[in-house]
Amino acid sequence: MGYDLKLRVWRGNEAGGELCDYTVEVSEGEVVLDALHRLQATQSGDLAIRWNCKAGKCGSCSAEINGRPRLLCMTRLSDFEETETITVTPMRTFPVIRDLVTDVSFNYKKARQLPGVELGPRDADGKRRMMQQDVERGQEFRKCIECFLCQDVCHVVRDHEDNKEAFSGPRFFLRYAELDMHPLDTHDRRKLAQEAAGIGMCNITKCCTEVCPEGIRITDNAIIPMKERVVDRKYDPLVWLGSKIGLRPKDSEGRQEL
Ligand code: SF4
Ligand code: SF4
Ligand code: FES
Repeated sequence: MGYDLKLRVWRGNEAGGELCDYTVEVSEGEVVLDALHRLQATQSGDLAIRWNCKAGKCGSCSAEINGRPRLLCMTRLSDFEETETITVTPMRTFPVIRDLVTDVSFNYKKARQLPGVELGPRDADGKRRMMQQDVERGQEFRKCIECFLCQDVCHVVRDHEDNKEAFSGPRFFLRYAELDMHPLDTHDRRKLAQEAAGIGMCNITKCCTEVCPEGIRITDNAIIPMKERVVDRKYDPLVWLGSKIGLRPKDSEGRQEL
């Protein structure tokens, strides 16, 4: 059975915009992205929306629905009352390009700061081995579809533009943790996680975990263990003694730490 959905959509660009009201005919089983596509097809051909897979896998259709960061293609209309007005706005943490499309290049900049995997030598038989539990931990982290909803919800940057320089955000703490706990990787990213990525600014509110469409336990499985590793390094008596007698560990660029 179809019905008339009341939609309120933010329309505008970097100079400013406003919420506009529409009524769109929708059908049973549809998602918010279907309703926006019908709006585009029947009333507002110039409505800008970023999407690709319509299956929750490309991470393109991130926006805010009734103020909550969500994927447009995975949010069912049946989650709402038929009489309810659904409000769709762009992700607040990133600059608007137009309508629901934001400039997420902040995330690409942070990704470039992170050194890639550096594997140690192979075993004598030419193979590399790791424990199954290490494989499974990495698999959870690799489910990330880079929708950046966790980045959007994180209050450290959501309400504080000036923190963006010093803070990489939960999506990248996940990557730091994945590589730092990888048993075959040889690079020590702990100093970088602390000083360049600003993991110390995270106060473990778990909002990032709550919005992750892949159900990754970002805070418990990545951020907290990574914070513990950073603290271990900082307060490790051997590291402290080494710094006193000149045996300083190397930093993430392979340089001697000061
Ligand atoms: S747990 Fe940390 S990274 Fe996640 S939203 Fe909260 S402050 Fe941000
Ligand atoms: S960790 Fe989850 S919320 Fe964050 S970018 Fe990846 S899939 Fe999206
Ligand atoms: S369109 Fe790909 S995740 Fe929504």
